[in-house]
Amino acid sequence: MNSSSSPAGDTILDPAKLPRHVAIIMDGNGRWARQRLLNRIKGHEKGAETVRTIVRTSRELGIGILTLYAFSTENWQRPKTEIAALMELLNRFLISERSEMMENNIRLNAIGQIDRLPRAVRLTLQQTMDLTRDKDGMLLNLALSYGARDEITMMVQTLAQKAITGEIDAGDITPEVISEHLYTRHMPDPDLLIRTSGEMRISNFLLWQIAYTEIYITNTLWPDFGKEEYIRILLDFQQRERRFGKV
Ligand code: IPE
Ligand code: IPE
Ligand code: MG
Repeated sequence: MNSSSSPAGDTILDPAKLPRHVAIIMDGNGRWARQRLLNRIKGHEKGAETVRTIVRTSRELGIGILTLYAFSTENWQRPKTEIAALMELLNRFLISERSEMMENNIRLNAIGQIDRLPRAVRLTLQQTMDLTRDKDGMLLNLALSYGARDEITMMVQTLAQKAITGEIDAGDITPEVISEHLYTRHMPDPDLLIRTSGEMRISNFLLWQIAYTEIYITNTLWPDFGKEEYIRILLDFQQRERRFGKV
């Protein structure tokens, strides 16, 4: 559904019906830049500002977990210069946002193939995660070199190994056991998935975890996305009837 027509009006969000976990596919930085005849990197820089706004707003509203798809396993196939710029931007973001995360009681976590990230980013990431370890106001989950098929493959390998060594019985593998072997272990599944820029696809994001997630796709490009539209989407979410297959 598109957001442009739904009026935010004076409708107030019901704090009791907020999603516990919001996941976002932040797409459209390149198109935003192209529209302005700018380099794609400029789009990523503007996109980083949106990240700041949405993290802040999520914290203010009382969202428990915010998972942001920042770099996919497939994104390694982009030009080397774009990858380098994205990594540099990520590194800067992780440093510049530290004090605000500390002040606002936000814990940083990363999901994905962290060992594939450049050493400098890995170090900064580790430092920021260590610094915010005790924060419990909100969990900010960055999906970095993340791919759901990679995550599922890794889970199958781990469980197969445990079955071979006798640590687990193959018959004891339940959906709960599977969930506890994914990057998102100990987290509730996303209640709401937002994708910006209008593509009607999942792009290898959280395939297992979104089985019953409400999906909202907006045409707005990520650098143009902001607090007002985010709140409108949350209001839309609160109107939905989640049946989970029941009547
Ligand atoms: C999203 O914007 C950011 C990343 C995937 C890193 P894109 O770079 O995919 O922007 P478009 O889709 O080309 O507009
Ligand atoms: C999805 O966007 C990945 C991230 C937002 C990090 P892409 O731009 O990489 O996805 P596709 O290529 O449109 O599927
Ligand atoms: Mg894209």
